[in-house]
Amino acid sequence: MRISRALAAAVLVLFPLAAVSQAASAPARSAHTPVQKAAPPQVAQTPPMGWNSWNFFGHKVTDQDVRNAADQLVSTGMKDAGYIYVNIDDTWEGDRDASGILHANSKFPDMKALADYVHSKGLKLGIYSSPGPQTCARFAASLDHEVQDAQLYASWGIDYLKYDLCTFRTAVMTAQAPDDKAAQMRLMVAAYDKMNKALKATGRPIVYSFCQYGWDAVWEWGPSVGANLWRTTGDIQPNWQSIYSILNENAGLAKYAGPGHWNDPDMLEVGNGQSSGPNNPIRYLSSAENRTHFSMWAMLAAPLLAGNDLPNMTHEVRTILTNRDVIAIDQDRLGHQATRAYSEGELDVWTRHLSGGAVAIAVINAGADRYSSHPFHLSLAKLGLHGPLKGKDLWTGKDITLTDNMPIELGSHDILLVRIAAPK
Ligand code: GLA
Repeated sequence: MRISRALAAAVLVLFPLAAVSQAASAPARSAHTPVQKAAPPQVAQTPPMGWNSWNFFGHKVTDQDVRNAADQLVSTGMKDAGYIYVNIDDTWEGDRDASGILHANSKFPDMKALADYVHSKGLKLGIYSSPGPQTCARFAASLDHEVQDAQLYASWGIDYLKYDLCTFRTAVMTAQAPDDKAAQMRLMVAAYDKMNKALKATGRPIVYSFCQYGWDAVWEWGPSVGANLWRTTGDIQPNWQSIYSILNENAGLAKYAGPGHWNDPDMLEVGNGQSSGPNNPIRYLSSAENRTHFSMWAMLAAPLLAGNDLPNMTHEVRTILTNRDVIAIDQDRLGHQATRAYSEGELDVWTRHLSGGAVAIAVINAGADRYSSHPFHLSLAKLGLHGPLKGKDLWTGKDITLTDNMPIELGSHDILLVRIAAPK
């Protein structure tokens, strides 16, 4: 612990010196020499994919859990399927020293060594902070230390920052502008921009993930202050009600998504569950719920950050998380987020336009019962399409032909997800 603190401090001390000595040895520029600006590194051209510690490990996450997750991403084939970021969420932070440098707590003895380990697997490492004095779990955060923290992250080799509003709200927004909502929002935007500039100044490509729960229509201003993604809602929970309501809250946001800037309906709960009380058993998401959740996050062009216990996941959960056809929808290079085409009773139909003129169609049964005795009839006309349409059912892997008003039977909370190559 001591050694790593000393190392981190040394890197931070050396970092600005290195920059100064480079500048000193560079040939003198005449006033007319055009400045060669390097193209800014492009990150998040498709929605980021990876794993985040919060949804399963919460406060308990340790260095070993993160290493295990990295190992599992490789051994399960998830890395090959596109999951690259290994993101440490809240509770890694320790104290600041006399120079203001933040150190990780005892759960993370050597952050640089952890980053090196994750990088050695061909993966990238993400971290978490807040613009407030403390994080949501009340650990030290970045207020008044933005530049120092950004440089610290860069010195460790961090590739992704989730920046969570948390205590900035009370400590700064309501404290400085108690009765002025507009001024509070300006303070919030400025805080996100401050860290944006600090990250950019490191010169390291770092994905910048906003977490302020969708306040003040973040999708409208986020990209202008560096957001590569922004949470659109409050926290997800591992139950159908939460997943389905977040899905619907994202229905009107398609036009804000695109390469480099994405709506974030929160991290995946695939494979997770929760208990309704201390003595009650955990109710895991059903197979259908896992499939629908994963499919619809792909339709939303959402970041796919698995949030489950990778070393102990079932074969079924792994199969869902590595469905290449579904991932290909999420990662489609056009980045056009799906829209909800229509709903009828408890069924919803969504469509997403994909590159090469392809279309993805999702039909969800949000009801508690199976639609069989009164099957739902899919109207292609309402989607602006005409049958018959040949496509692939992305969960059975089989060919399917959609015809107008065809009856569709779906179990409770299940989905039909079809990719049509290029409808006429
Ligand atoms: C907030 C965020 C969560 C998680 C926790 C950590 O609630 O929305 O995603 O990061 O903080 O404390």
